[in-house]
Formats: sequence, C-alpha cells, structure tokens
Amino acid sequence: MKAIVCVDKNWGIGSNNDLLYHIPADMKFFKEHTMGNVVVMGLATLLSLPGQKALPGRTNVVLCDDLSWSAPDVTVCHSIPELLETLKQFDTDSIYICGGASVYAQLIPYCDTAYVTKVDAGDKAAEKFFPNLDNESSWSLAEESETMEHKELQFRFTTYKNSNPM
Ligand SMILES: NC(=O)c1ccc[n+]([C@@H]2O[C@H](COP(=O)([O-])OP(=O)(O)OC[C@H]3O[C@@H](n4cnc5c(N)ncnc54)[C@H](OP(=O)(O)O)[C@@H]3O)[C@@H](O)[C@H]2O)c1
Repeated sequence: MKAIVCVDKNWGIGSNNDLLYHIPADMKFFKEHTMGNVVVMGLATLLSLPGQKALPGRTNVVLCDDLSWSAPDVTVCHSIPELLETLKQFDTDSIYICGGASVYAQLIPYCDTAYVTKVDAGDKAAEKFFPNLDNESSWSLAEESETMEHKELQFRFTTYKNSNPM
C-alpha cells in the first residue's frame, strides 16, 4: 500500500481539521492517483471533506472507534487488525493511505511507497504532522519533481520508498 500526503517544511499536514494549503495541482495529483482505487482515512479526515462525504469514484474505508457510526458508500473499520483483514480483498498497489495524522502514524510501516507533496513554507501553525521520512532508516527519497509554483507558494512532488514494509 501507499501513503499520499501534502506536507510543509516541518512535515506539518493540517490544523483546525483542515489542510494547511489548497494547491490545485496537488488536488489533481491526489485525484489522478486515487481515482478507481481504495482510499483509507480516519473519521476526522472524512469529516473534513466537502459535504463530509465519501470521495466519489473510489472505495472509501474509514477508521472509526464508534461502533454505531456509518455513512453512505463508506466501509467502516474499528481497529487496525479489522482494517488489514478488510484490505486483503484488494490489490495492495490499489490501496492509498490518505490521512490524517493518526492514520498515517499507524499505517506508514505497512506502506512501500509514499507520495509526498512538499510545500516550501512553514508559515502556518500546523497541529498535525506526518512522520519525517528523512529520519526513518528504512525510507529513502526516490524521486523529486522540479519546483512548481501556485500563488507564490513553491512546491514539488516527491516519492519515498520503504525498503522494509511490514
Ligand atoms: N496534508 C494532507 O495531505 C492531509 C491528508 C489528510 C488529512 N490531513 C489533515 O489531518 C488532520 C486530521 O488528522 P487526525 O489525526 O486529527 O485525524 P484522522 O487520522 O483523520 O482521524 C482520527 C480518527 O480516526 C479514528 N481512528 C484512527 N485510528 C483508529 C483505530 N486504530 N481504530 C479505530 N478508529 C481509529 C478515530 O475516530 P473516533 O473519532 O471514532 O475516535 C480517530 O479519532 C486534518 O487537519 C486534516 O486536514 C492532511
């Protein structure tokens, strides 16, 4: 499985249950990768989406503690073991871990690839973070795009690979 995330200079990913930056090219990148595939997210991230609804055109799997919670077009899992069992029916390459911080932290050891959009900014006070893959011995930077710009925000697409996924 793969993680897909947009981080700032400090690997910050969000505050007030929202993204730090909304960059159209990053949204497009996310859509292109995940469309037709499986997206795994925590309840807080689902509730941060437009209309608090499942992402269309994708199989949505949501981690949630509340046994009574449900939503249309969402498969709910209540633990990591239940999630891993549920994901067995899908091709592992089609599974994208989409956040937020708590879900990334728990599932990054299972990922072989992480698509990390890096925004060259640290001006917003992030409350939630992605693990700094530069400090993880099994993870290494495999690819990096040229720097692009949106409204004076510079960003680039990077790919990290995990040499020892669980
Ligand atoms: N920059 C990016 O690319 C990106 C991507 C996605 C999200 N984000 C940001 O990340 C932030 C949200 O992250 P977050 O860490 O607060 O929330 P989250 O990971 O989206 O969701 C947390 C919730 O998921 C459920 N959960 C997580 N692990 C579970 C487990 N093992 N078993 C059962 N339920 C589990 C729990 O739901 P209960 O409420 O039921 O306890 C928990 O409260 C937002 O700011 C969002 O915008 C950023």
